[in-house]
Formats: sequence, structure tokens, C-alpha cells
Amino acid sequence: MAVNVALDGPSGAGKSTIAKLAAKRLGFIYVDTGALYRSIAYRIISLGIDPKDENAVCGALDDIKLELKYIDGTQAVFVNGENVSDKIRTPEISMAASNVSAMPRVREFLLETQRSIARTNDIIMDGRDIGTVILPDAQVKIFLTASAEVRAQRRYKELAEKGDSSTYEQVLADINERDYNDTHRAQAPLKQAQDAKLLDSSELTIEQTADEIVARVEEYRQAGDTVKKTAEIKPAERVPRSERIQREIMPVRPIKKGKKINPLRQGFYNVARPFVRFIFKCWFDLSYEGVENVPTDGGNIFASNHRSYGDPVFIALMTRVPISYMAKEELFKQNIFFTLLIKAWGAFPVVRGTGDTAVIDISVNKLDSGRNLVIFPEGTRSKDGSVGKGKNGVALIAAVAQTKVVPVGINFEGEKLCRKKKVVVRYGKPIVPAQIGVTDTSPKNIKILKKAIMENISKLVY
Ligand code: DC
Repeated sequence: MAVNVALDGPSGAGKSTIAKLAAKRLGFIYVDTGALYRSIAYRIISLGIDPKDENAVCGALDDIKLELKYIDGTQAVFVNGENVSDKIRTPEISMAASNVSAMPRVREFLLETQRSIARTNDIIMDGRDIGTVILPDAQVKIFLTASAEVRAQRRYKELAEKGDSSTYEQVLADINERDYNDTHRAQAPLKQAQDAKLLDSSELTIEQTADEIVARVEEYRQAGDTVKKTAEIKPAERVPRSERIQREIMPVRPIKKGKKINPLRQGFYNVARPFVRFIFKCWFDLSYEGVENVPTDGGNIFASNHRSYGDPVFIALMTRVPISYMAKEELFKQNIFFTLLIKAWGAFPVVRGTGDTAVIDISVNKLDSGRNLVIFPEGTRSKDGSVGKGKNGVALIAAVAQTKVVPVGINFEGEKLCRKKKVVVRYGKPIVPAQIGVTDTSPKNIKILKKAIMENISKLVY
């Protein structure tokens, strides 16, 4: 099995220098993930796009092709065929990389590139979220830090050697700003994984710091046999992977209620909703029950059984605030008309294989932006109308965001939805996580919340 070392820490802590040295000693590949964010920033700036303009940045992603190559053991990054490795180290790109790295779509875009290289190679990967999000199962995790002044002094020296005219004060201000951005962003913020070793390099030489990493890997290798034997004897005591990830990376971040959503979208929704309702009422024999349970504000989750592609529409027709809902990536590749239609209605793609945490972060961001979120906890459509087991995602999103979950039951007879079919949509009483004692994302609480959600959905389905 490949050995993965996750090395996280703030800008200028010396991660890349130390990781390169340790990788050389261990015979590992060094993967610099910051270079990936920098390369995106480089391309965005080359296209004349403002790196803070999330819509424009995300819109350009489809045309960015990134490749990591290893030339004589050194990483080179190619953007659309151009080797940009030497061009991405300027202060302008550093700041732009910090901006684009806060965008969920950008992080999702880079996720698989990072994971795939770790799957089959012994690597040291440095970044901000390697131990927490990208490689939560890395065998060795280090969180490398140093005081802001020491880091600024090192970076200043490095830039001066390259002929850059930035002053020490400018470099320190930049470091402080990037630290703030990296630790305060909603998406995969920089933080030490619970099982990472904290290493402060302020008083250590490069050699000493690299020694520490090499020692940790040796320690892991020596302990490897013992760990394997223990696992064989007591498999029941091993914590399931899903639970380990949950504990490490799912802090609660309650959303702020009452946010006004984009007036254009709200305006479109105000016009489209009565129009679509009229069409749906003509087309189906559609009725609603429990409409008094639908909150008038946004930022709520509607958790429903899943019967047809029309479900997000059925559910949304009684909500005043636009919805968002996850849809399989394949649905966006069918035909342009269908894609535009589901996008206009709030669909966002979920890429298969994307880490659960990325999807949860995106969902919480949608709620935080004031939208309602429709989720089908069973994941797939039920043909016969019975309610299946349900996945943890809905409970995790609700627990992280600490927001209400409105259970919904969609009912019609038979398998297929067709013209004039009697459809009854029922909304149940909202479930408030804190009111049932769910104030964190511990596996026990997620189980409690998921159970409450699924039971309430079942009660609304006949
Ligand atoms: O490590 P670096 O300075 O080259 O990183 C450039 C920017 O990219 C930095 O502001 C943080 C961001 N980054 C990130 O968010 N996640 C990573 N895994 C690596 C870098």
C-alpha cells in the first residue's frame, strides 16, 4: 500500500523546501498542491478575469486543463500545455491563488487530481487541507507552522534573491492577509487535523524539520506490522472510515438566517413559480397537504422521498425562496435544453467520487447564501414508492448548518408519472437539530438526526 504523508500549514512555513528534502531522503514523490491553485490563478489572470469574481472563475474552469509531470523527480505543472512552474511564484499569483482557493468549485475541480496521485504512489503532499479533506487516511500527518514574522522574513529573503522589490513590511502584510483568508474561508479552511503532529519550525533548521518527518515515516513503518496484527485480532474496535472522517473534518458552522438572495434570481423565481405551478396543476392532478409547515424564509432543508425528475419542482412550488438541489453530473450532459432547465431551477452537479465533505461544504454554502436546499436522502428514485434507508449526508448537512429540516412525502400510484396522475405532496413539521439534542456532528448524533428525518418522511408517504 502506498505511504502518504500529509503536510499542512500556513503560507511560508517552509513546507515545500522541507517536503522536497524529506521526499528525497525517503525516495517519495513530493506533490505541491499549492502549485495547482497557483496555476488556476495564473490562467485566470491571463484570461483577464478578476480572481475574486467567483462566477467568472468557475465559468472558466471547464477550459483549464492541468497536468502534473515529474521531470527528474521535480514537479512541473502544465496549464493547457504550457509549463507554468516558474511563472506562478509572484506575489500577484500568490494572492490570486488564495482568492480562487476559497471557491468550492475550484477545490472540487482539483480534488481528484490530488487523490489519484496519492492512491498509487508513496508521496509527501503539502497544502492546507491534505490531512483533513484530501487524504484523511494519510498514515503520517504533520502540521508545520512558524511565527508570521519568521515566515515573512524567509519569504522576503527568497523574493529579494529573485530580484523582487517587495519590502519586508509588504511581505508580512501579505502573509497576514493570506493566513486570514486561508483560515477563515468556509471551504476546507486551513486547520490542524486532530491526528496531525504539530511542528513549529521557527527555531528549527530545515534539516532538523525534515529529520522529524523522516522519523515519523520510519516510526510508521516499524509500527506497521504491529498495527496490522492488532487490526486482525480486534477488527470490531476499528473505527469505520466514514466516522473517522466525520470526526476530523465536520465542525459545526451554523448558517446566518435572513440573508437576501440575489435579486435577479429571486425575481426570476417570483415570475417562474406561478407560471410553472399553473402548468403543473393543468398537467397533473396535483394537491398539497401541510403547507403551513413550509417556512417562509430561506436556508432550510427539504428532505423528501424520491419518485421522479419532477420532485424538485413539486417541492419548490410552495416555497417562496428559490431552491438548490444536487443532481448527478450525468444529468448536465444530456441536452442543452434540459441542462438549462434544471440549472434555472437550482440544480448543481455532484461529481461522482467527490469527497463527501466537499459536497457537504457546497450544500452548507448554498444554505448560507439564503437558498433552500432540496435533498433526497435515499440517493436514488424509488420505483414502488417505498422509503429506503437514507444516507448520512442529509443529517450531516443539517447538523453542520444547524438548520431546520422539513420532511416531505411525494405520493402517486404506480411507477411512472404521467398526465392527469393524482400527485399528493405532503410537508411535515420541521425538525430542528438542536431541539433533538443534535448540536454537533458526532456519529451518534448523525444517526439520531437521520433516523428522525427518515421516520418523518415515511409518515408522509402512503
Ligand atoms: O502553498 P502555496 O503558498 O503555494 O499556496 C497557494 C495558495 O493556495 C494559498 O493561499 C492557499 C491555497 N492552497 C489551498 O487552499 N489548499 C492547498 N491544498 C494548497 C494551497
